[in-house]
Amino acid sequence: MRLDKFLSSQNICSRKEAAKLAKEGRITVNGISAAKCDIKIDPDSDIIEVDGARVAYSKYIYIMMNKPKGVLSASTDKNAPTVIDLLPDEFRRRGLFPAGRLDKDTTGLLIITDDGDFAHRMLSPKSGVYKMYKAQLDLPLTDEGRKALESGITLKDGTSFRPAVISFENDDRQNVYIRITEGKFHEVKRMFAYVGCEVLELERKCIGELFLDEALMPGESKLISDLEIYNIFSGHIN
Ligand code: URA
Repeated sequence: MRLDKFLSSQNICSRKEAAKLAKEGRITVNGISAAKCDIKIDPDSDIIEVDGARVAYSKYIYIMMNKPKGVLSASTDKNAPTVIDLLPDEFRRRGLFPAGRLDKDTTGLLIITDDGDFAHRMLSPKSGVYKMYKAQLDLPLTDEGRKALESGITLKDGTSFRPAVISFENDDRQNVYIRITEGKFHEVKRMFAYVGCEVLELERKCIGELFLDEALMPGESKLISDLEIYNIFSGHIN
């Protein structure tokens, strides 16, 4: 991989800035100053340092986005803006996709990555990674409704949903937290519809142990570390 591409892929600097840093003698490869940044390096074995600090190599990128309303969880679309369109230039690279979908009108935590294995593992119901949503309902959730959702339900069309975990803040039954481990189409909305409630607003708050950073404004994103990604799976089956 070219040195400048390596540095930009690790979000150290842009390719243009890399050329400047190299010229200023601030980059070393295996201890030797690199005057140019079009040289080839092996990210797995070469030691790259900028201003004396080693650049850790991470093959994949993981981005947390606070998804806004009106944007599609897709890589490309001819008619509507996608979450990929919202990414700042420094996070852009080939192969990025949203790991799992939120409806166009759903907001909150979305992970965008180029790591297909991770996405597959996170989304597989087998791995048991839960997702928690806050749902604003048109009517208060009754005790019977809660019991039904927590026991697991089967819709008239035969679709079944695994038991969910329901919680409230200050017993506010119109702003309900629901934890699920599947990711079926319109799952949360269909579950609440089954118990007679319409979801007015839906926001994803966490995936496993990874919580939405509330400092992110809708549409904003930030990089997350390999460790935070690893932690998503802590406490789960796989
Ligand atoms: N369930 C839904 O109904 N919609 C979402 O966007 C996510 C989960």
